[in-house]
Amino acid sequence: MRVLSGIQPTGRFHWGNYFGAIRQYIDLQNEEASYYFIANLHALTTVRDKTQLEENTRDAALDLLALGLDPNKASLFLQSDVPEVSELCWILMTGTPMGLLERCVSYKDKVARGINAGAGLFTYPVLMAADILAYDANIVPVGADQVQHIEVTRDLAQSFNHHFGEVFVLPQAKLLDASAKVVGTDGEKMSKSYDNTIGIFEDAKAMRKKIMRIVTDSRPMEDPKDPETDHLFLLFRLFATPEALQEMADLYNKGGFGYGHVKKALADAADEYFGEFRAKRAELAAQPDKVREILGDGAAAARKQAGAVLRRAQEACGLMPA
Ligand code: TYM
Repeated sequence: MRVLSGIQPTGRFHWGNYFGAIRQYIDLQNEEASYYFIANLHALTTVRDKTQLEENTRDAALDLLALGLDPNKASLFLQSDVPEVSELCWILMTGTPMGLLERCVSYKDKVARGINAGAGLFTYPVLMAADILAYDANIVPVGADQVQHIEVTRDLAQSFNHHFGEVFVLPQAKLLDASAKVVGTDGEKMSKSYDNTIGIFEDAKAMRKKIMRIVTDSRPMEDPKDPETDHLFLLFRLFATPEALQEMADLYNKGGFGYGHVKKALADAADEYFGEFRAKRAELAAQPDKVREILGDGAAAARKQAGAVLRRAQEACGLMPA
């Protein structure tokens, strides 16, 4: 399997990013080939501050490496270090129907929230298609919110292949059943844009505070409750061992518990889970040259692959690369 995925440096990574996507990157890094990149070109559509984008990008690299992404197994790089992808994006753009992009939910959603939509935001899925197709990826580990973009990628690849011959590999999204859509502190999808996130490397105290403020219903203590419909339980499920999970589910089904108890158990479990990555992150943060070198090596490997696919596409459509 050839695996590829990208993540935007638009702020610090949160539990949704980790359980929906990053954990999959790490599980899949032993595959035949795996490419993971920090999507800074995509982030530029919303982060319009040089220092902020640079800082977010450094944090993104440190977070991914600290969480277990191994540069000896996978290529980790910055999207902007592979210009071949932007060229491929243009080629795909020439065959992209407007209607296909107009139907994209994440674009419609941003417009509905009053975000000023530029051409970059609108054509965002085409760059994402180029990202995926440039590496002949057949598996793309993501959360549920990216599935539509992968469908767009398949559409664009299929239509190019149909018109010019078999050039692109058709990719497939890979989701995790229990965490394709991690909920946030308000019970909606956890998302930087909804201000309901809990950060992976958030200060332990701040994290506990946020957990204590998770919105719950006003059920009386003695009433039982179906755990599967409670977002606090769904968050606990991300961290808990099967035994701890069963114990908690029994408590829900029996009743007689308070949400404060569940919140404390969740905070303890999260602390323990992410605690071990903190030291690794601090160690890496003290070696900026090493991190830069990892990204440089990753980019070199990525360019080699993306260059070969770009050439294939150029040849197929008559651009006659020298
Ligand atoms: P981004 O940066 O918004 O999110 C990165 C990854 O985290 C997943 N995710 C979630 N999963 C479960 N529950 C949540 N609440 C949650 N929130 C975020 C996302 O699904 C994603 O997998 N367009 C992409 C970046 C991108 C990309 C690509 C991805 C650019 N090119 C090529 C794959 C392949 C994005 O904005 O992800």
